Amino acid sequence: MGQASVVAIDGPAGSGKSTLGRALAARLGYLYFDTGVLYRAVTWLALQTGVDPADEGAVVALVERARPDVSRATRKDGRLYTVTIDGRDVTWDIRELAVDASVSVVSAHARLRQALLGVQRAIAARGRVVLVGRDIGTVVAPEADVKIYLDASPAVRAERRYRELLARGVITSLAEVQAEMRRRDEIDSGRAAAPLAPAPDAIVISSDCLSVDQEVKAVAELVTNRPGRDC
Ligand code: DC
Repeated sequence: MGQASVVAIDGPAGSGKSTLGRALAARLGYLYFDTGVLYRAVTWLALQTGVDPADEGAVVALVERARPDVSRATRKDGRLYTVTIDGRDVTWDIRELAVDASVSVVSAHARLRQALLGVQRAIAARGRVVLVGRDIGTVVAPEADVKIYLDASPAVRAERRYRELLARGVITSLAEVQAEMRRRDEIDSGRAAAPLAPAPDAIVISSDCLSVDQEVKAVAELVTNRPGRDC
């Protein structure tokens, strides 16, 4: 039995993908890569430069000029990595509510997804990596050794997201977070380009009744005990 080297974790917002991905990567000594930051950085730049998030041509023109980049953390302020675009450190800016509100529209553009595919695949090709997103198991790394689709009920997901925002000092209400999440779900799952869906060979896990430790343990076992990998 051998160890898997690319782990794909997909699922909707608030399902706990990032928490699982981070903890799993730390446990395995793998790189953790949250692909959502690429779409968030482009969205931030569009908003900043007055580009309409719905204008595919204009959004694609933005990334042709300024690719988002993810590197090791450059500051000790609680970040796990540093995200830059067009020379600006946007690690925290990309978590703002304005970005949340437009990122699904931006990430539905097929040509943008194509433009961001190379960087994601290059990271997957290095191996020993946990990739987290919406289309990792279906499009970015269909050959991933282990594919997880992490889900949770809408109520649990909204509550988690609400607490996360409160902890960061963002003023909002649970009802607002629920409505925003429903809207994002509809766009992410209904878009033509790489919609959010479990890969046929993904293992679907519901995080509602599992602790992070239980999830990490279960997935780590899948990663380290993949029968038949060495044949
Ligand atoms: O995981 P997140 O909330 O940071 O993702 C932000 C948005 O980016 C989400 O609404 C869908 C999009 N996304 C995507 O389309 N494909 C990915 N691989 C990752 C994120």
